[in-house]
Amino acid sequence: MTVQPHDHSPLSRALSSGPDVVETPRMTVIGTGYLGATHAICMAVLGFEVLGVDVDARKIEALTNGDVPFFEPGLKEKLDEALASGRLRFTQDFQEAADFGDVHFICVGTPQSKESGAADLTYVDLAFAELASRMTRKALIVGKSTVPIGTAERLTQLVRDVAQPGVEIEVAWNPEFLREGYAVQDTLHPDRLVFGVPSEWARQQLTAAFRPILDAGTPLIVADLKTAELVKVAANSFLATKISYINAMAEVCEATGADVNLLASALSYDTRIGGRFLKPGLGFGGGCLPKDIRAFTYRAEELGVGQAVAFLREVDAINNRRRRRTVDLVREMAGGSLQGVRVAALGAAFKPNSDDIRDAPALDVAQMMHEEGAEVVVYDPEALDNARKAYPQLTFEDSMGTALRGANVVVLLTEWEKFRKADPDLLGALVADKRMVDGRHALDADDYRAKGWEYRALGRPAHSRTVTLASDVSDELQLQSA
Ligand code: UDX
Repeated sequence: MTVQPHDHSPLSRALSSGPDVVETPRMTVIGTGYLGATHAICMAVLGFEVLGVDVDARKIEALTNGDVPFFEPGLKEKLDEALASGRLRFTQDFQEAADFGDVHFICVGTPQSKESGAADLTYVDLAFAELASRMTRKALIVGKSTVPIGTAERLTQLVRDVAQPGVEIEVAWNPEFLREGYAVQDTLHPDRLVFGVPSEWARQQLTAAFRPILDAGTPLIVADLKTAELVKVAANSFLATKISYINAMAEVCEATGADVNLLASALSYDTRIGGRFLKPGLGFGGGCLPKDIRAFTYRAEELGVGQAVAFLREVDAINNRRRRRTVDLVREMAGGSLQGVRVAALGAAFKPNSDDIRDAPALDVAQMMHEEGAEVVVYDPEALDNARKAYPQLTFEDSMGTALRGANVVVLLTEWEKFRKADPDLLGALVADKRMVDGRHALDADDYRAKGWEYRALGRPAHSRTVTLASDVSDELQLQSA
């Protein structure tokens, strides 16, 4: 693997591109979900001609009309800009895509299989086959989806098997690290690019496709296909482990009366550890971290190195225990039983600035309290539509005030700015009992207590004080400065 400080002088450009390399490639993006729509839009904004492809007619229609089919701050403006430039179009037609593209990005989902923890590669396989079988000239197919190690090699063979005679197709891998809520920023200004390439031509062609981002000085790691696949799951496993580590410490704090927030703060000033992803609380959810650690464990076991990542099962278990423990804390505050207790659940999305409810800790907690007989009322600024469809048995309110009215316990489950900034006095005027369980360690405990609330958070003694972590750059602040 080589780390390449990108040299963008005209001479290097002339030297680095062989005769077959298209300097300003036309791109297709197959799969216009979260990752694909963002990638297609941002590439068009950067100056490339882009064709987005999806089998879902509703998504194509929405995007063509300038509507982003999910909540992502700033993306609608970029979609408008891209459509106005005339460089971005959408289609359902794979033949059109095959004819159009010099570089094809595959961004379809790899959900968790129902029967095992493995990644379901049905959509990836289909996308590669549908496209490759229709291509009539040399081009590069670039996988961006998160896949088990060895998938790119298998797909290289699949592509060869289905390609028309004489058509040369290469497969590269370019893992994507974008965070929901920061998708535009992370796509236009990634902290690094990773190219898994099988040849010098593929490296040059992919470099041309990312020229504006590389010219901005973004570090580039050029690797083999397998390493590139591994980078993604290794990164997400590390992040998940860091979160579960501090949540494991929270469990120890609960048993001893120590304070996990003070502990995290003290750890965070060690620059080797750092404060980011060290926030204790309800733990991780979403479409990536939980499924990626499970798929990685499954694949490692298949490869005979299951022991090397056996700790990831523990990381998963610690994370799931947080949900149960949050319910325990709400029950404790309610006096020992949730039967007939009115609970205002603030948050449904798996994290703020997103309407994504996949594996959302918040809804899991709401569901468990509901099963124990609580009258749970859920409010979320953006995720209500998705939550209503997935949890028809729960009660949802369209306003925070209505959700809070008459509550015996309030539980903060997703740390939206609206909740963090809410005035404890105003909230207090609505509820029946001023009891707050801060599932995300996101509120000012001192302020709540001063205003007459009983405040509790997992891993903190009943009278702990509020502290912050070093380099705990709040996501909201990051968003504002982007
Ligand atoms: C993640 C990775 O960050 C991203 O690089 C990858 O490409 C996709 O998966 P995302 O799923 O958008 O991105 O969420 P992320 O911001 O990583 O948060 C994951 C979960 O961890 C959330 O549920 C969040 O609430 C939780 N979390 C995060 C904590 O519980 N504590 C923390 O300190 C940080």
